[in-house]
Amino acid sequence: MTITKEQVLSALSNVEEPDLKKDLVTLNMIQDIHIDGNKVSFSVILTTPACPLKAMIENACRNAILYFVSKEAEISINMNSRVTSQKNTGVPGVKNIIAVASGKGGVGKSTVAVNLALGLAKTGARVGLIDADIYGPSIPIMFGLEGARPKASQAEGKTRIQPIEKYGIKLLSIGFFTDPDQPVPWRGPMVSTAVKQLFNDADWGELDYLVVDLPPGTGDIHITVTQSFPVTGAVIVTTPQNVALADARKGIGMFMMNAINVPILGIVENMSYFTPAELPANKYYIFGQGGGQKLAQQLGVPFLGEIPLVKSISDSGDAGRPVVLEEDNITAPAFVEMAKKVAQQIAICNAHATNNVKS
Ligand SMILES: Nc1ncnc2c1ncn2[C@@H]1O[C@H](COP(=O)(O)OP(=O)(O)O)[C@@H](O)[C@H]1O
Ligand SMILES: [Mg+2]
Repeated sequence: MTITKEQVLSALSNVEEPDLKKDLVTLNMIQDIHIDGNKVSFSVILTTPACPLKAMIENACRNAILYFVSKEAEISINMNSRVTSQKNTGVPGVKNIIAVASGKGGVGKSTVAVNLALGLAKTGARVGLIDADIYGPSIPIMFGLEGARPKASQAEGKTRIQPIEKYGIKLLSIGFFTDPDQPVPWRGPMVSTAVKQLFNDADWGELDYLVVDLPPGTGDIHITVTQSFPVTGAVIVTTPQNVALADARKGIGMFMMNAINVPILGIVENMSYFTPAELPANKYYIFGQGGGQKLAQQLGVPFLGEIPLVKSISDSGDAGRPVVLEEDNITAPAFVEMAKKVAQQIAICNAHATNNVKS
């Protein structure tokens, strides 16, 4: 008996994408089917290289061929990806904008934004990072780029800024354009213009994800960013304390307002528990347990995970080499898992959007 393409497609139409709740064939995720005797090969095009269900989907495809087509099939599957996009982000070449926000300052918003951006890049995605925290830009220090000045050129009467590349991502900080020793009293319109320039006047190239570290709270910059650029979704960072949770709830409320209407990709609880480096299995929930998860449940938004309080997270931020880059650090996997969950939520939002554009 010879195997046909139709049989392969028909078998794979039994495999459901667990998040998108449709089969892989309907979702156009199967490509390049080749058959040679009982050798069957094809590509599965996932919605993100950071797909947490990659292994599970691959396994399900293999089993479907063995079960519905032939027990003797020799199967080779190429797991590939093409990041989806839902709408024009207003920044040419950028598929998705992720806003990282928090109710309060000091909860680890920048730490999450930086490790999220690098975590996504680690999975193979093309990533950019904007530090729009006008009141406390910390990305220059976290990347060891204090005093760096991005190159700017004039072309056809317009300024073009070259984002700085480090650790495999492109980045710009409002801090590159200010003098840390001479704080400027920013006025509303100035702030808004400066932040918009980080998006509009920079050569970002092709990006799957552009992560934006917003200032804490809810203010002018949030309104500028969300109204000038169709943000794909927001990640809200909180710590377990009630004061932080109450402010996180307010922050989420702002994104959900009709006038803003940015989907919440989920809540990250940072500094969830303390873990001593020498006893990584010990978890001390010093600020109480489960607050972030409970808030997510109450508001009906995804929970993206707990990040422990570990000295190396802070040390590596100060040293200019974020912790997710350290393979052997116990917290690196927590950040990579979080990044995968964010990518998963974006894929879900994009699939549900009615005006989904295929690229
Ligand atoms: N999980 C963590 N464990 C240890 N230190 C952390 C953790 N998250 C953040 N920090 C530290 O706490 C401080 C505030 O974090 P930061 O990311 O700058 O917060 P925000 O951007 O919300 O103001 C920084 O010194 C940072 O290194
Ligand atoms: Mg910050």
